Amino acid sequence: MRDVQRIAIVDPSDTSREALRNVLLGMESVWLEAECARYEFFLEVISQSIPDVAVVSLDSDQAKALQLISQLSSELPDVPILAISARGDGQAILQALRNGAREFLTVPVVLEELLKALSRLQRGRTNGEKGSNGEAQTKTESLVIAVLGSRGGVGCTSIAVNLGATLAQDAHHNAALIDLDLALGDADVALDLMADYTLADVALNIDRLDLQFLRRSLSKHASGLSLLPHPVQMEDAGLIREDHLQRVIGLLRASYSHLVLDLSKSFSPTDVTALRMADLILLVAQLDLTSLRNVVRMLATLATEEALDKKVRIILNRIGNETDISLSKAEETIGKPIYWQIPNESKVVMESRNHGMPLLTFAPKCKVQQSIAGLAQALCGKELQPAAKEKSSRWGTLFSRK
Ligand SMILES: Nc1ncnc2c1ncn2[C@@H]1O[C@H](COP(=O)(O)OP(=O)(O)OP(=O)(O)O)[C@@H](O)[C@H]1O
Ligand SMILES: [Mg+2]
Repeated sequence: MRDVQRIAIVDPSDTSREALRNVLLGMESVWLEAECARYEFFLEVISQSIPDVAVVSLDSDQAKALQLISQLSSELPDVPILAISARGDGQAILQALRNGAREFLTVPVVLEELLKALSRLQRGRTNGEKGSNGEAQTKTESLVIAVLGSRGGVGCTSIAVNLGATLAQDAHHNAALIDLDLALGDADVALDLMADYTLADVALNIDRLDLQFLRRSLSKHASGLSLLPHPVQMEDAGLIREDHLQRVIGLLRASYSHLVLDLSKSFSPTDVTALRMADLILLVAQLDLTSLRNVVRMLATLATEEALDKKVRIILNRIGNETDISLSKAEETIGKPIYWQIPNESKVVMESRNHGMPLLTFAPKCKVQQSIAGLAQALCGKELQPAAKEKSSRWGTLFSRK
């Protein structure tokens, strides 16, 4: 689970307080600690619980609200204040900030703006906090991993599903998979999930999308992995636009610690949006001419945007499958280090797909699952355990580099 921010709000207006409460209640990363309808009681209310953020609405009585902000900042200096107001009154905003408010938002509060402001306040707080080892504590950031294939059938869905399920196993993680192979995706089949909602429902409701609605649209697998599937009807693939996807990924980042994106092979505008929003791009290849040639072409395209280029990690799948192209030749052709290798294990991978079970439950000890577990650890920046290291040295780390 992600860290929860405990929030207290003061707003004498029932209408605007309720509206803000509804937005906050939809956010998994937020716990509504206290609600107060009187400026005069707020300090006493929050002195007991010391929330992570105090939200002060300026609109019911600006003078009282501004006075409260300076009182809070002198008496509870560790509680960051977020001031909100529907009026674009520059003087009041300035005064709120001078009196000690750290952030200001205009009402009605836009969810993305609120998430950003809360995240800034949280970062500000944790930077100041020291852990038991005396070092500044860093809170978990979400990691968005795009899985991009260099040709059809190269193994993207197998990697995305198994990586997602493996990441979801860690009790500290909250992982979700978005199937962005909008026409022909099969992550739902690989997980044997009959979803009630798909990306098409999310796109159709984009204007009233909040975190509660979005979370309800994801189906949860027994492994803990949540799935947002591709549309059921192929013609609905066109409903999903880049701005929809931007919103969906942006919001899911706030709720999930790990997001895996299974992309299509068409380099569509939604694929490119996903690549831009990802923190890491796993470019999946195999030791055959078509795949390697496409890796070179794709790297050249990605290199036109520096930010994309830096995020790419090359994953070689089905190592050990018969081929006359050596690993060193592949690395030389690609001109970039191979980050990870996944062994070939046709029968077990095929059967797990046909049973709709991730390897983690179907064949947890198989070589592919061991390799994917190592990959998950490496992507999360964790040191491999000695046993895992030993195993994956055969399969995973021959060329593995950060
Ligand atoms: N490491 C592996 N060892 C053996 N077989 C594998 C491995 N990875 C994937 N496969 C097999 O390769 C086939 C294609 O895999 P997958 O569907 O994951 O690829 P994809 O890139 O998502 O394909 P598509 O282009 O259709 O989206 C499947 O039959 C799967 O069982
Ligand atoms: Mg696929």
